[in-house]
Amino acid sequence: MFAFFVVVLLGANVLGRPELDGPSVALLGDIVDFQCEVLIYPEDENIQLEGDRSKVLAEYTSMSGEMAVMPLLIISLHEGYLECEASVLNDSRIQPTVSYRHYLQVIGELDGAEVVVQSGAVEFFEGKTLKLLCNLTAGNHVSYSWLLNGQPHVPEISCVTFRPTSQDSGSYMCVATNQFNMTRIFTSNSSEVLITVKDVVSNPDISFTVLKEATDLYYAVVTCQSTKGTPPITFSLYNIRELVENMTVNELSAEFAVQVVLGQHLGWIQCQAYNGDQTAYSEWKALEVVPVQGPVTMHYDYDVGEDFAVIGLRIYCKVAKGSHPRYQWFLNETLLEGRGTFYVVVDQPQQQSILLISVGRSSAGTYHCEASDSFESLDTAALRSKKWYLDKEVLNRLPISVVAAVFGCFSFLVSLVSICCCVGVVFRFALVLILLISILRGAREEFFYPNEDIEKLICHCTVHSFPGLCFSFATHCFCALVTSKP
Ligand SMILES: *[C@@H]1O[C@H](CO)[C@@H](O)[C@H](O)[C@H]1NC(C)=O
Ligand SMILES: *[C@@H]1O[C@H](CO)[C@@H](O)[C@H](O)[C@H]1NC(C)=O
Ligand SMILES: *[C@@H]1O[C@H](CO)[C@@H](O)[C@H](O)[C@H]1NC(C)=O
Ligand SMILES: *[C@@H]1O[C@H](CO)[C@@H](O)[C@H](O)[C@H]1NC(C)=O
Ligand SMILES: *[C@@H]1O[C@H](CO)[C@@H](O)[C@H](O)[C@H]1NC(C)=O
Ligand SMILES: *[C@@H]1O[C@H](CO)[C@@H](O)[C@H](O)[C@H]1NC(C)=O
Repeated sequence: MFAFFVVVLLGANVLGRPELDGPSVALLGDIVDFQCEVLIYPEDENIQLEGDRSKVLAEYTSMSGEMAVMPLLIISLHEGYLECEASVLNDSRIQPTVSYRHYLQVIGELDGAEVVVQSGAVEFFEGKTLKLLCNLTAGNHVSYSWLLNGQPHVPEISCVTFRPTSQDSGSYMCVATNQFNMTRIFTSNSSEVLITVKDVVSNPDISFTVLKEATDLYYAVVTCQSTKGTPPITFSLYNIRELVENMTVNELSAEFAVQVVLGQHLGWIQCQAYNGDQTAYSEWKALEVVPVQGPVTMHYDYDVGEDFAVIGLRIYCKVAKGSHPRYQWFLNETLLEGRGTFYVVVDQPQQQSILLISVGRSSAGTYHCEASDSFESLDTAALRSKKWYLDKEVLNRLPISVVAAVFGCFSFLVSLVSICCCVGVVFRFALVLILLISILRGAREEFFYPNEDIEKLICHCTVHSFPGLCFSFATHCFCALVTSKP
């Protein structure tokens, strides 16, 4: 709290409250006038206005009640409440009076903005905390903004703390701003500070293909593939305890060639990846190349349209053994590759191959699939599956039969209910069983059409009983075709 002393020569014995007037905002270094005036004062003698508050800024002696004008050179310490105190000089009987408080804000020009990385390192891994401070050598009443690569970023405060991801890497700059009287705007820009946030390398996937170099000379080409991680990354291939090979690359994957012998289990291998933080590990994988071995089997499932006609068919081809099989599909001995007008080949590596067929006139014919080792050349003999003749007519007998069986079962048994009411429970069950068996037998016979590959008909029946309705019950049966042997 500061005070102005105003000393006035006056001639009455009542001293009124002084009135302090002046700007509420001032610029550092400017000279600004403050006025203080006492309107009621003793008239018959000379008095002085004075005060004894915490710190005197200016003093003025008013000889005849005129307004005191006190110029002030603004320094930053002047910010705060100011007041004016009036007192009558040499007359202790009259108590000094004090004006209302007047707040003065001091605006200083900004200077020396600088980004201080309080968390320390400018290059670090994701997950760590980054603390940035926008420090100034001069200035007050500042608002801050932060730019990352020239774009507004993070909250507008002097000190920001966050956990950046690798996307938050870049050049950070802070801009400090303040303004005086809406007209003068001061800014101070810091220089740029480069922050690099690195991604820890993710656990790599391990897989290998087989390469034939010469007769009886095979290599496993092991791929270690991470999905994330800031390069450079060092990938290492381990065989149980020992390092097979390592390499440092500027990408997310690395390949290693290891000689293999077909059909032999050569131990377990693992990829490790490291880019400065913690080592990431793949699963252990058996280093074993199993050549294909038959039989090659096919099975299928299908989709039916509104009229229960088969519209889509999926044929699956699988070889009994083999770690790196290559599958090929044939229609009438013509190779089907990739995607055609009515089919798509979908390979599920290491598992099986699927042929998706849109059933129509052009899809009719005899299908089979072949499997061979992917590392052998295409002209080596392949293992063949059995052949299937499939056309619209053959396929469409299938779902109609199933539907007939399901609904046949159901409706017949429901109509049986009224008869059952009058017959004993045991007899009723026996009758139902006999009926069910005969229906299913009929259904089974219906399924015997020229496709020899359909092996079994499996029906699952559920009996629902409704005791309140005279022991009536109904049965659902769902039947499925199983083609276990090609
Ligand atoms: C006030 O008192 C001082 C001495 O204490 C004296 O010098 C001065 O002349 C007096 N002023 C008036 C206006 O009486
Ligand atoms: C901020 O700037 C002032 C003045 O230049 C300096 O004394 C102080 O150490 C700085 N603070 C930090 C955290 O760097
Ligand atoms: C503040 O701005 C007003 C008009 O915007 C102007 O009249 C006044 O003189 C300015 N005050 C100072 C101290 O610059
Ligand atoms: C400070 O940065 C802002 C935003 O990039 C820019 O508009 C302004 O011109 C810069 N000022 C100085 C003094 O560099
Ligand atoms: C890579 O292998 C060499 C020896 O072959 C070894 O000195 C080095 O430490 C290994 N680097 C890593 C990251 O494992
Ligand atoms: C495949 O052969 C059958 C006759 O065996 C023939 O009806 C069918 O149109 C042929 N399909 C194709 C796509 O050539």
